[in-house]
Parts: sequence; C-alpha cells; structure tokens
Amino acid sequence: MSKTAELIIDGKSYMLPIIEGTEGEKAIDIGNLLETAGVTTLDFGYKNTGATKSAITFLDGDKGILRYRGYSIEDLAAKSTFLEVSYLLIYGELPTQEQLTKFSNDIKTHTLVHEDIKKILDGFPSSAHPMGVLASLFCSQTAFYPESLDPNRSSEGVYLSIIRSLAKMPTFAAWSYKNVIGHPVNYPDNSLEYSSRFLKMLFAHPAAEYDVDPVIADALDKLLILHADHEQNCSTSTVRIVGSSKASIYSSISAGINALWGPLHGGANQEVIVMLENIKKDGGDTDKWINKAKDKNSGFRLMGFGHRVYKNFDPRAKIIKKAADDVMTKLGINDPVLEIAQKLEEVALRDPYFIERKLYPNVDFYSGIIYRALGIPVDMFTVMFAMGRLPGWIAQWKELRENKEPIGRPRQLYIGQTLRPYVELKKR
Ligand code: CMC
Repeated sequence: MSKTAELIIDGKSYMLPIIEGTEGEKAIDIGNLLETAGVTTLDFGYKNTGATKSAITFLDGDKGILRYRGYSIEDLAAKSTFLEVSYLLIYGELPTQEQLTKFSNDIKTHTLVHEDIKKILDGFPSSAHPMGVLASLFCSQTAFYPESLDPNRSSEGVYLSIIRSLAKMPTFAAWSYKNVIGHPVNYPDNSLEYSSRFLKMLFAHPAAEYDVDPVIADALDKLLILHADHEQNCSTSTVRIVGSSKASIYSSISAGINALWGPLHGGANQEVIVMLENIKKDGGDTDKWINKAKDKNSGFRLMGFGHRVYKNFDPRAKIIKKAADDVMTKLGINDPVLEIAQKLEEVALRDPYFIERKLYPNVDFYSGIIYRALGIPVDMFTVMFAMGRLPGWIAQWKELRENKEPIGRPRQLYIGQTLRPYVELKKR
C-alpha cells in the first residue's frame, strides 16, 4: 500500500505521497504542493531536498556507507581499476573483459587533442590556476565537436562524447599544468594505462625521461576510484542543472569543474596542505589552530574537516589514510606535515566542539598528503579530484538525459521591496 504524509496548513489537510528508495530511504513528494496548497518549501543549501531519483550512488552519511551501483567503495578501491569503475558508473554494470578492452581501446583512440588547443593555452598568463584552464579547455570541446551541441544526439554520438571526455581529460589536466609552469607539453603515450599515461604527461620533459613507478600509478588509480562519484554534491548538481537545459556534455562538465574548484568543495584538498604548511611554519602548535577554528570571528575553518552528509566518518578518508601510510612506507617518505595532520586529527576528535558538530576528517584531509607524496604539485590537487569525478559527472548527465528530467529551476521566497512608484533621476 502506498504511504502518504499529511500536511495541515491553516486547518486544511493535504496528503503527500511518500516515495521509498531501494535502501528504505523515504522522500515526501512535494512536487504539486504549490498547485494544491499555494505554498513552496524553503531549504537553504538544499540540505534536505532531493532533486532527483538516481540509481548510481548510494550513500548513508550516518553509517559511513558509500556504494557505486551497489558495490562497496572498499571492494572497488581494493580490487578494481579506475576504468572499470568508470564503466560501472556510466553503464550500470561491471564490464566483462571484452567490454573493458573495447572501452579502454576506444579511449586510447581519442587521447590526442586538437593542435589548436595549444593556441588556447598560449592565451593564458602564467598566473592561471590549472583548474580555470582545465574548465576552459573542457568547454572548448564544444567548438571542436559542434555536433555535441545537438540535444537530440544519437546514442552513438553520446557514446563518442563520453569516450572523448574520458580520453582527453588526462591530456587536458597535464597540459594545464605544463602550460602554467612554462614547460612544453607531452603527448599521450597509449602504450600506458589511464593513470600511468597521465603521470608521464605530467612529469616527463625533454631534459628528463620519466619511468612511471607502479606504486605511484596504483595509488593514483585508487584515489581516482575514491573520487569517482558522490551522488548529488555541489559540482554534480551543477552538472545536472546545466545539463537539464540540454546544454552539451562538455559545457555541463566544464560547469562541474568550476563548481568543484571552490575551497568548500574539491578545492579543500589544496587548502589542507596550505593550512598544514602554515601550521608548521607557525611552530606546529595544533591547539592554537584548533582554537582558531572554533572561534567564529576568526573566519578560519579546519580544512578537510566536516561534511554535509557524513556525520560519523567519511569512508573514503579511512581508505585514503591507510593508502597514504602504505605509499609513504613504500616510497620511504617521511613528511613532517603528516605528523601535524595526525596531531590535528587527534586533538580535533577529542574536542567537544568537533564532537558535538560531528566534524570528522573528510576525503580531502588525507588526499592532499598522498598527492604530495606522489609528487603531484599542490596547484594540481583539485585537478586530480576533477579527473576522478569525471565518470560520476558523465553518469549523472547521462541518467538525467535518459530519464528525460525537466529543466532545473528552484523556487525562492521573495523578501525584497513590494511595489513602489518609479522616481525620476533628477528627483532622486
Ligand atoms: N572547521 C570548524 N568548524 C566547522 C567546520 C570546520 N571545518 N565545518 C563546519 N563547522 C561548524 C560550523 O561553523 C557550524 O557551526 P555552528 O553550528 O556553531 O554554526 C557547524 O560546524 C555546521 O557547519 P555548516 O557549515 O553548517 O555545515 P555544512 O554541511 O553546510 O558544510 C562543509 C559542510 C564541508 C562545507 C564544512 O564542514 C566545511 O566548510 N568544511 C571545510 C571545507 C572542506 O573540508 N570541504 C571539503 C568537503 S569533502 C569534499 C567534497 O565532497 O567536496
């Protein structure tokens, strides 16, 4: 029997359908409320507003559960590869060996980017942040592939755009950085797999050959898997809302890259390292910085702490913390910043301010440290997040399109001036 919720406004009752998800989550469908009761709902930051029904990622913030298409993040991080996970997210099932080989070969066919991309790169000053460059290069694909603008594109056409997006992302990401540091760009080496191909494009230069270290490539692949999707977060919602206007996949993803860049979202991984370095320079007194984070007037937050949905622990942070330890041991790295991070975590987890507000280390707290250990430049940390999140954005864009969802258009509660007469300029 279908369930309903009763809402009483000014003594009048309205019955609202309750929809249940496959994991027992319940949502009240308020879609007709404006029509039937003449009221809208208000929820700043969409803290408790479901914008869609999705079959891609399941997340339980209280229990610290994260699953892609029903598979636990722990299993996928331990046993899978980034391309396998990308296929799973986008097409709903783990690929067979044949499907994976085709997917990987199709991607390899499109790793080169148009030579004119170099002219676009030339236009950026050396002060450009790679995230801004990446978003621009991604959007520029609408110019190189104008057929992608067709909102009624065939499924073969959409497949090609998906393949091109995945194929060119590592090239764009590496080139964004090379351009900023003034080095010549490297072309993709298709004898290498996804993460190794990116590392070679990022690190090799004419004065030094670069042999990909499998420990680094494996760690990077795992990090990309952990970032691959996270249901309706800020950047993914941005991709969906831009895509809902029937904008192309490239412009939708470019918008997602921009949304991810902010320090409260993906930009936090860069900010964590900046913060830890500052604490180190300041003498390493973690208590002082914890107190600063608790002082609302300081404007300072402990970067890498807290999460909109995880209120006990972030399962990705747990895996990354262990991966960071493994990588540091394997590579023989002893990073003093790691010690400060560990101290900060210990102090924060004992402090009532953080306990009461359920603030725990999130994925970005340890990902910055591991990227540093892998030799990835700090400016590239958020670009790494974008590379990882790409299959999730694609899967969500594709789902929205296949579900024929309407254009995204939230309501508001107007609190401005009511009607007043216009006053001519000379009388003001
Ligand atoms: N340091 C100090 N206090 C904090 C922090 C923090 N990092 N995060 C939240 N608080 C406090 C906040 O001041 C508020 O206190 P009060 O109730 O006294 O006003 C309370 O905790 C709730 O915070 P909120 O801002 O209402 O929570 P939110 O769900 O809107 O924000 C967040 C979530 C992730 C934006 C926030 O925790 C934050 O700014 N964290 C630091 C930035 C960060 O690490 N972001 C990466 C998120 S994980 C990667 C991703 O998926 O994007």
